[in-house]
Order: sequence, then C-alpha cells, then structure tokens
Amino acid sequence: MSLAPFRFADLRQESDGRDELLAGLLAERAMIPPKYFYDDLGSRLFAAICCLPEYALTRSEARLFAEHGSDIARATGTGRLMVDLGAGDCGKAAGLFPLLDPAGYVALDISADFLRDALERLRRRFPALPMAGVAIDFTRSLDLPESLLTPAGAPRLWFYPGSSIGNFAPDAAREFLARIARACIDAPGGALLIGVDLVKDKAVLDAAYDDALGVTAAFNLNVLNVVNRLLPADFDVADWRHVAFFDAAASRIEMHLEARREVTVRLDKLTRQFAAGARIHTEDSYKWTAAGFAALLNEAGFAKLKQWQDADGGFALFLAELV
Ligand code: AVJ
Repeated sequence: MSLAPFRFADLRQESDGRDELLAGLLAERAMIPPKYFYDDLGSRLFAAICCLPEYALTRSEARLFAEHGSDIARATGTGRLMVDLGAGDCGKAAGLFPLLDPAGYVALDISADFLRDALERLRRRFPALPMAGVAIDFTRSLDLPESLLTPAGAPRLWFYPGSSIGNFAPDAAREFLARIARACIDAPGGALLIGVDLVKDKAVLDAAYDDALGVTAAFNLNVLNVVNRLLPADFDVADWRHVAFFDAAASRIEMHLEARREVTVRLDKLTRQFAAGARIHTEDSYKWTAAGFAALLNEAGFAKLKQWQDADGGFALFLAELV
C-alpha cells in the first residue's frame, strides 16, 4: 500500500515563547497564555476533559456533526483542502473525512510531537489522502508555506472546532477571524467552519471547568511543569490550587492558579514572590450568544453565514463565507 505525500514542518519560534512566558510571569497581574497547556501530557489531559460528564462541549459539537453532517457537507461541498486550526489528536477532522471527502488535510497545532504521532496514525487510516502537519503558534501567524498547502488548486476549508475561538477576547477574536477572512480572499473559494460554545447557566459552566474528578485541575496545574521545563523555573505544583469560575458580566470562564501559601519561584535568572492567595491567570474561555457570534463573523468580513444549533442551544456551528 503506497501512502500519499506527507510533510511535517516545525515553524515554532522557541525563543519568543520564553520571553513571552517571562513577561507574563513578571507582570503585576501574573499570567501564562493558555497555549502553554498543550505539552504531551497537557494534550492528553485535554482529551480526557473532553470525555468528562461535566464538559458537554465536545459531545454537543459531535452531535451537531452527526445530526447535520450531510447538510453541512452540502453547504461546504466536497473536495476541499481542510486546514485544521489546533488539530490535537486530529479526531474531529478525521470524523468528518467520510462526509466532507477532502482533497487534502493540513493539521496545525502548537504541540509538535503529539501532532506528529496523531498524523502517523491517521495516514494509516486514510492512505490516499495528501496530508501535512505544521507545528505552529497560529495565533501569531497564519502564514503557511504554499508547498504545504496541497493540492494547490483545491478551495480551502478552514476548520476551527471546539470553541477554541473562546480563548480570544472579543476584539482579538474579531482580528483573528478577519485574518482567516483575508486568507479566504488570497485563495478564493475559502470558507470557515467553526464551532462555538454558547452562554448557559453559570452552575453548568462552573462545573464544566471544575470537574469532580479534578481532571481540569490537573490540566491547569500541569502548565507549571511546562513552564519549569521551558524557562526553566522551579514551580512546585503542590503549592498551587486550581480556580475556575464563570464571570457572567464578561461572559467568560476564568481559570487561575492560586498560591496555597507564600511561594518564592525562580524564573530563569530572576525570582518572584507570590503571597498566599495570589493568582496566576491561565485562561479565559469566552462564551457567546449565537447572534453575538454571527455579528462578530460579519464584522470580520464574512458576509454569508449558515448556522446549526443543538436543541438546548448549548453550542453552535457556523459555516462562514465571503460571498
Ligand atoms: C480548547 C479552549 C476550547 O476553553 O473549553 C477546557 C480549553 N480549558 N477546560 C475550553 C479548556 C479547560 C477549552 N478550549
């Protein structure tokens, strides 16, 4: 059995990662950007979060794809080059291959080794599909070498599932979506298929980000291990506790790590003291109304929208095109 062409490129820039981490940890309101969650263990913990009873998001999205798949495929058309933003284990995209019948698949993710392993497995399941993997922080740049975007003539389907857009504050989300819209101008015929988690009851959202098994706590705390390796630093995970809550006024989940006691941490060549109760902000996860998100897509330049929502209004899928 011969396999279709496969390329893998690592376009990450290690050194600016360290500068960004250091700046965030030294800021008065200490923070760690959420993309640092996803080392190999973090990617596995996130996959486990997606199976938690409290975290309905992934199941709601999967149900929408299962129920409306043929309608979605009619709207997108087949034979596209699927560009997966934050592919992780590539499971969501792979689940759609039978429906969308893509001409090629390009998977982008910040977690290089995890992505490479996932693509190795995927190639064996879909040996005829041209694939490429790109380790990249696509929140910084969507500039991809054309040589990876094959087949060249295929109209592109930008695939951004799982409500990862929620990590952006509204202004940044609009800018990021506008960048995808510009990519759809540069390579005409492009479209965006995006999943977004909708505002719901605070108690439901609180539980989704602070589950009974403590998997989300482990996911949040693991970022300290990532920082220890990258900077390097000497955080002791046992000094910190997971804090997560929905702020209805800002329409976002906030996640923090809170110092259980006074802590002194070495950060590369510097040190910082954290008082007991001090927090490091690790993630925002914005929740949208369907109308609010449609307006955001319009503002970003997508004039033509199709939308699918589940019965309880918990999650929405949008297909966004320029015309
Ligand atoms: C991958 C950003 C969509 O915000 O729900 C899950 C990450 N954080 N539980 C989300 C996450 C804690 C997730 N996203």
